[in-house]
Amino acid sequence: MKICFIGTGYVGLVSGVLFSDFGNTVYCVDNDKNKILNLEKSILPIFEPGLDEIVEKNFKAKRVFFTTDINKAIKSSDIIFIAVGTPPSKDGKSADLSNVFKVVKTISKNLNKYKIIITKSTVPLGTGDQIEKILSKTISKSKFDVVSNPEFLREGEAIRDFRYPDRVVIGTNNVKKVSPILKKLYEPIIKKGGKFIVVSRKAAELIKYAANAFLATKITFINEIANLCEKTGINVDDIAEGIGTDARIGSRFLRAGPAYGGSCFPKDTKALIETSKKFNVDLSLVKNVVRSNDNRSNLITKKILQILKNPNNKKIGFLGVTFKANTDDMRDSSCLSIIPQILKKNCKVNYYDPTGAKAILSKNKKIKFCKDPNELIQNSDLIVIHTEWDEFKSIDFSKFMKKENLLIFDLRNLHHPRDFLNKNIKYFSIGRPNNE
Ligand code: UGA
Repeated sequence: MKICFIGTGYVGLVSGVLFSDFGNTVYCVDNDKNKILNLEKSILPIFEPGLDEIVEKNFKAKRVFFTTDINKAIKSSDIIFIAVGTPPSKDGKSADLSNVFKVVKTISKNLNKYKIIITKSTVPLGTGDQIEKILSKTISKSKFDVVSNPEFLREGEAIRDFRYPDRVVIGTNNVKKVSPILKKLYEPIIKKGGKFIVVSRKAAELIKYAANAFLATKITFINEIANLCEKTGINVDDIAEGIGTDARIGSRFLRAGPAYGGSCFPKDTKALIETSKKFNVDLSLVKNVVRSNDNRSNLITKKILQILKNPNNKKIGFLGVTFKANTDDMRDSSCLSIIPQILKKNCKVNYYDPTGAKAILSKNKKIKFCKDPNELIQNSDLIVIHTEWDEFKSIDFSKFMKKENLLIFDLRNLHHPRDFLNKNIKYFSIGRPNNE
């Protein structure tokens, strides 16, 4: 099939390239010329393990094309995926759809034959209806169908999530025509066991938000239970196992830690609340999830200051600063709320991250990047394990035994309190009894 992805951000690039890997001809379009030139050299604008090799393979095989020529790409394709960014609006509450509507206008000028137009970007309930309305002004409805096909890829796990998803959700109001075409496109995934779910267009739009809000709720739930565990000497990991083995609950997304972050959960939960307001519905649970998560960084900061006792002039070393492992993404990373608060207490902050120094932190001269995690540990009073990179799991802290009064606050429970018993190191973690 001939398809095009407009927007080669995270969603567009990963999905476009992987569809080409299934044997389709894919045009990946972007208005950033440099990005396109780099992609042709397999230099990727995002960090996603393994993706560069798949780009190179399919580019050489002439299955994926990178281009700025949006008109040609649309004309040459049967299926058009809109995958442009939908960043938070200026008030931070809903999604800014200006990029989406700009693309829709361009599509309307290039509809030379019947095409399926798919929103892959996360768009609020009713966006598909708006797109259809814009297109219908100049084009006959028999020439196009507007479909919602939300993506459920996780950063850092995107290749696996694309190839082996639990489900593919198709939202269409023209099931008879659209469903067989998209079933064919997704055939390699369906064959491997991915469920093909066809619903109304609006339902698909809401599924995306409901999925992210539910996952955010699950994380927030275990984080609040972790708070209770800390007061009662119970291990939250035991609770996660004890409840997660109940198939009705499920074991995933029950890892207690810092506030959830990233480009999706914070933005999508807030946008869902805005949507509910429009329909006069009180999503009280989601509102409380957002509130609890916003407050979580304050709780973690308070705990850091308690651990330090006297924070003045203390050196704090962060291991990992991204919102989760296997990504270089800093968007809504919880450390961006924690670090400014501890700097106010006159602490010094250094950090190491496997994906290198971060521009957003370099802006502040009081925060220093350290290339070597061992050096960071050696020069810190308190180590905060902020991100769950595998390389932090294998750090042997006993090497630092001679160092006086090393404190460790493990926000991801990567290590075990028993490993620090009778050692010169004080170890704190989330929702588990300390080694004190
Ligand atoms: C999330 C969803 O998981 C994807 O299904 C969805 O496609 C994507 O948003 C999106 O809307 O585009 P992502 O933001 O890449 O994916 O990251 P997650 O792996 O879901 O993690 C989000 C946050 O939750 C991170 O800060 C992570 O550390 C935290 N988390 C996750 C926990 O604190 N505990 C957990 O058990 C799981």
